Amino acid sequence: MSAAVEMPYFIKPSRLLSPDQKRVVYNAARQAILSILGDEADEQVKMVTINCLLKTHIPYFYWVGFYLVRGKDELVIGPYQGTLGCLYIKFGRGVCGTVAATGKAVIVYDTHGLIQGKEHIACDPNSRSEIVLPVRRADGSLLGVFDVDSTLEGSFDEVDERELEELLAEVFG
Ligand code: SME
Repeated sequence: MSAAVEMPYFIKPSRLLSPDQKRVVYNAARQAILSILGDEADEQVKMVTINCLLKTHIPYFYWVGFYLVRGKDELVIGPYQGTLGCLYIKFGRGVCGTVAATGKAVIVYDTHGLIQGKEHIACDPNSRSEIVLPVRRADGSLLGVFDVDSTLEGSFDEVDERELEELLAEVFG
């Protein structure tokens, strides 16, 4: 699939994997993340490590990053890897704001099928599918959401949701 707009030199288009291939790369990424982090307590250090190693190991992870809860009903951009992400998102707006408001993960097969500005916020026209999950601390409080975009439709499924849910709980829970 040709990209909607030219990608910056430092980013490559996504490459899809089968469920079995996904499990292999998630296992490698998880082992690397857990061995690097050890008993690290700093949330920022955890986020930047997760972004870097997931993007390193998983070829359809185009934009990877965190949005953090600020105040009662807003997300502010956190650590990420990829093209410029929007800076603030109100709870209930876009995929990230919906996940923050409901506390439930969302998988989007084709972001272009959503109502732009309401159901989806297009930070990068190359993003075509997306998965967003809530990130909770050990005390159950919402740290924010974890957002991953791919340049290909249908990149994410229940394997991604389970692997990412388990990894985020293991690192932040
Ligand atoms: N697509 C997200 C916004 C974040 S940018 O993709 C990094 C959303 O719809 O909430």
